Amino acid sequence: MTLPAAAYTDVAQYERERHAVFGRQWQLAAFAAALRAPGDYVRHEFAGWNVVVVVDNAGALRAFHNVCRHRAGPLVDEDAGRCTSFVCRYHGWAYDLDGSLLSARDFGDEALDLDEFPLHEVQVASWRGLVFVNLDAEMPPLDTDHGAFFAAMADQPLEEFSYSHRVVHPVDANWKVYTDNYGEGYHVPLVHPELNRELVAREYRVEVGDHFSLHTAPTRSGAVNAGRWLWRYPNLALNIYPNGMNVERFIPAGPRRTLVVYDYFFRTDDPENADVERMGREVLAEDRAICEAVQRNLEAGVYDTGVLSPRHENGLVAFHEWLAASLADVH
Ligand code: FES
Ligand SMILES: [Fe+2]
Repeated sequence: MTLPAAAYTDVAQYERERHAVFGRQWQLAAFAAALRAPGDYVRHEFAGWNVVVVVDNAGALRAFHNVCRHRAGPLVDEDAGRCTSFVCRYHGWAYDLDGSLLSARDFGDEALDLDEFPLHEVQVASWRGLVFVNLDAEMPPLDTDHGAFFAAMADQPLEEFSYSHRVVHPVDANWKVYTDNYGEGYHVPLVHPELNRELVAREYRVEVGDHFSLHTAPTRSGAVNAGRWLWRYPNLALNIYPNGMNVERFIPAGPRRTLVVYDYFFRTDDPENADVERMGREVLAEDRAICEAVQRNLEAGVYDTGVLSPRHENGLVAFHEWLAASLADVH
């Protein structure tokens, strides 16, 4: 069975997922290439959470909620930059790169104990140039949690690819509508005519592993796709091409809004890279149109649950099981 329609529309469900899924699962927050020297920072907002990852003065990665301890002002507004300390945008409290409060500008209370107000710190860890955060201090380390997924990526030459650029696509649908859509190749022949010409869609396979799935399809000659996609619960996908990859995140921005963020990496400046991006845009536009139509239909009230194809939609079954486990395991 599918999830019930309310799972994709209900504000209370979204709030539960914010905490039970996005508040506890490792999230890709930055790329190591942007975090080289002390003071380099990257801000990442997802499902209402707002985090800043920074290189501290000792050269270590740190991550904090981008929320001032005075009255919740933001420390940084930019997506990335370099600073020597964090100065809150609201009243100017200043924090060291290690999160400790250095000064409370013109506060008027000599007795204020600065040590009582460090930034709220979160877990941070990196793997092969990708930097992840986890808001829950009790969750297992990244290497353990993502071990099976990382092993599945072991033969991919990520280090040979350099960061190229980002494209952000807003989609007016719940993040799970988009995730379900990503999770199967069943729709490829109908929704993606051009991609369908590159792939042997009949042989599109989804293999489910530990909190990830590997999608493969044989490609026809001349295809810009390598026919290899990996998805990691809850919202990360690595789309591999012969000459690079697209690191894709489905970032919840509300119960009915998702930002699909593509970060492209390429091996060389190849004219084929433009084809990869054009194809990505086209496929995304086609997926967006169908996901937005599905979201409207889920909200209309006539549909509650449906059935999932054992041949094509095994990835969705696994996703829904992991989601249910996250929602049941709230502490
Ligand atoms: S909210 Fe940050 S200084 Fe007031
Ligand atoms: Fe699609």
